[in-house]
Amino acid sequence: MADLAVQDGPAPTERPVGDPLVVLSGVDKHFGALHVLQGVDLTVRRGEVVVIIGPSGSGKSTLCRTINRLETIDAGTITIDGKELPSEGRDLARLRADVGMVFQSFNLFAHRTVLENVTLGPTRAKGVKKAAARERAMELLRRVGVADQAHKLPAQLSGGQQQRVAIARALAMDPKVMLFDEPTSALDPEMINEVLDVMVGLARDGMTMLVVTHEMGFARRAAHRVVFMDGGQIVEQADPETFFTAPTSARARDFLSKILTH
Ligand SMILES: Nc1ncnc2c1ncn2[C@@H]1O[C@H](COP(=O)(O)OP(=O)(O)OP(=O)(O)O)[C@@H](O)[C@H]1O
Ligand SMILES: [Mg+2]
Repeated sequence: MADLAVQDGPAPTERPVGDPLVVLSGVDKHFGALHVLQGVDLTVRRGEVVVIIGPSGSGKSTLCRTINRLETIDAGTITIDGKELPSEGRDLARLRADVGMVFQSFNLFAHRTVLENVTLGPTRAKGVKKAAARERAMELLRRVGVADQAHKLPAQLSGGQQQRVAIARALAMDPKVMLFDEPTSALDPEMINEVLDVMVGLARDGMTMLVVTHEMGFARRAAHRVVFMDGGQIVEQADPETFFTAPTSARARDFLSKILTH
């Protein structure tokens, strides 16, 4: 498997993308009186890396959560690989396996070893034999650089290591798309890059990714497109260079001026 040490590769926008894989069309979501997603249209193509940024409360996490149906939607449609999201049952479980998710808080099973964290999904949900699951898990743990931690419990690892295990765990299900919701914002600064490097490697290997992050370096290194959300709407989208250097909307300019001065 490819070494994930990051070299200066081709510009992300030169990586080819395929047909639409995740398609949101007219998606609306309310929490009571709060209209948190307002007619969101978004298409993520196979092999495409899309970064979502925007102010706190703009609906970024909710958008991610609707894609694997951790949240229901009130109107509109979401399709993954041409199929509309099923509402429940076995079809929903199958769909969830197609969508890997990595959260800000690592959400590992605390009483399971690192290796067990990565093998549980495939053995329980996909019927993969234990030996095969272990072999694949070790390969993934090597890939994210934590194979030597396989027999420890999550609490014995650093935050950066735990987050890399969480990425390996999601990859073990062979997802078609990976969603990341602020995967580095709970990490100490020195650990952020080790996680971002793994993500950049994944992007370069052609994984389809939707990533909520304010890490502009990641967007520049890996994203085809930056989507700016505010108030439950997609306000503007462009390739990273264009977005960061010449945002067109006042809201995006205002937001960027705030995060750039931090
Ligand atoms: N389960 C919920 N019940 C009620 N309101 C919610 C719920 N989840 C989110 N909200 C509200 O929906 C809005 C969008 O929240 P969301 O978490 O999607 O924003 P976000 O863009 O991810 O913000 P942040 O950058 O702070 O993570 C916020 O006003 C939030 O308070
Ligand atoms: Mg959020």
